[in-house]
Amino acid sequence: MNIGILGAGNVGKALGRGLVRAGYRVFISSREPDSPKHSAWKQEVGGSGDVTSFGEAARFGEMIIAALPWSGLKGVLETIDPADLKNKTVIDVSNAVHFDNGPRLLLVDTSAGAIIQTLLPESHVVKTLNNVSDKVMIHPQFKEGAPLMFMSGNDPSSKDQVRALLTDLGWSTIVDLGDIQQSRLQESIMLACVISEMQLQSPGSAFALLRH
Ligand SMILES: NC(=O)c1ccc[n+]([C@@H]2O[C@H](COP(=O)([O-])OP(=O)(O)OC[C@H]3O[C@@H](n4cnc5c(N)ncnc54)[C@H](OP(=O)(O)O)[C@@H]3O)[C@@H](O)[C@H]2O)c1
Repeated sequence: MNIGILGAGNVGKALGRGLVRAGYRVFISSREPDSPKHSAWKQEVGGSGDVTSFGEAARFGEMIIAALPWSGLKGVLETIDPADLKNKTVIDVSNAVHFDNGPRLLLVDTSAGAIIQTLLPESHVVKTLNNVSDKVMIHPQFKEGAPLMFMSGNDPSSKDQVRALLTDLGWSTIVDLGDIQQSRLQESIMLACVISEMQLQSPGSAFALLRH
């Protein structure tokens, strides 16, 4: 399957690398696709991936991943022809968060996931992977056991697609929280995870669910 990733930063490159290893073809995208800053990634993925414009990545992807800073996300979506995102699953990994004077959420009565779904009414937004560091997104390994990954979205078949993609990336415990309004929970859980990491001085942590 072809994946178009909007963004070529820490998350875009980590997910792109992991997906290529799992057998997907991936275009990541940047405002500067020809910059030498992408050379190492291009070399790593060889013929299975490329760095392109945002529009080209959107056209290429059968599934899309939005891996952009919250401040730039709406602007990037506005540059893309809506036809290139229509009826596609759009995975949202974003967090609208401020880090000055301690981390806090920018959105209180809504969520980044719900806003993106409103911006893309003809796409199927699924929120996932926002609550772990890019270093943990691919084949997460913890000696205590399998970490938990949440997802939420309105379209059941898009969530099936995302579940399959997460499984290919090494996630074994995936909980569907419900519709895209529930992404608010995931964005709060991200903040709880970040504060836990800071207090325990343990970056790259993830939550797990203990079950009988
Ligand atoms: N990093 C993590 O561990 C992590 C974990 C979970 C969720 N997230 C979320 O994932 C998203 C991406 O994070 P990241 O760490 O990958 O960010 P990043 O390393 O800063 O990369 C951001 C990417 O977006 C592009 N970009 C930056 N500002 C832009 C703007 N104003 N307009 C258009 N494009 C812009 C950059 O493009 P250029 O190449 O053109 O500069 C770059 O490709 C964020 O919403 C973040 O909250 C991050």
